[in-house]
Amino acid sequence: MISELLENTINFVKKELKDAEGGHDWFHVERVYKNALLISKTEKVDTTVVILGALLHDIADSKFHGGDDTVGPQKAHLFLSSENIEVEIIEHVVKIIENVSFKGGNVSQSFYSKELEVVQDADRLDALGAIGIARTFNYGGFKNRKIYDPEIQPKLGMSPFEYKRSAAPTINHFYEKLLLLKDRMNTETGKKIAQERHAFMEQFLEQFFMEWEGKR
Ligand code: ADP
Ligand code: NI
Repeated sequence: MISELLENTINFVKKELKDAEGGHDWFHVERVYKNALLISKTEKVDTTVVILGALLHDIADSKFHGGDDTVGPQKAHLFLSSENIEVEIIEHVVKIIENVSFKGGNVSQSFYSKELEVVQDADRLDALGAIGIARTFNYGGFKNRKIYDPEIQPKLGMSPFEYKRSAAPTINHFYEKLLLLKDRMNTETGKKIAQERHAFMEQFLEQFFMEWEGKR
């Protein structure tokens, strides 16, 4: 990939995300980009598509745009069209951005490619482990949610609409999304890292509930 395109894309993304919430900011994108490069080493992919997909995947998350999930793909399309890139690559990257998100896990995906699989795994890895825990509580704080409420049970199998509107305590998000991710990874490298990060979150939750009960 030509370095000018890489540089322009990074600058564009940093500008778009300058006021973003801490878990969806440039540093999230940078981590996803690094994860994507790591996973790509063991996959047969077009790295230009993977890199552009990873860098542009969160430029306008629908959660921060009144639920509108067309803003991100549109902005990406506009940006990529202003660069000198083949139309097929632009369309592929836009499809990746449209399909990367979890949305409660009950949406049937309409597009598949190896490149999407890599970007999706890279994004999911950043939802797991120590970083995943930090991002989740940051988001909960940003939304002024409770840390935990024993009276509010996690809800599995929510529709995308319910999932978006949920205002449940942050601990519930572990059961509604984070702990489900390890079985949804696409690539071998992604699966392996996800298992390690999953185990770390299990350990965190065990300790959390022990302390909650004042046991030790
Ligand atoms: P989704 O497709 O689930 O909206 P995101 O990629 O935007 O996924 O979610 C990224 C991260 O933001 C999550 O892994 C989590 O850390 C945080 N997050 C999203 N929704 C919630 C929530 N309802 N409660 C706590 N954290 C959340
Ligand atoms: Ni993301």
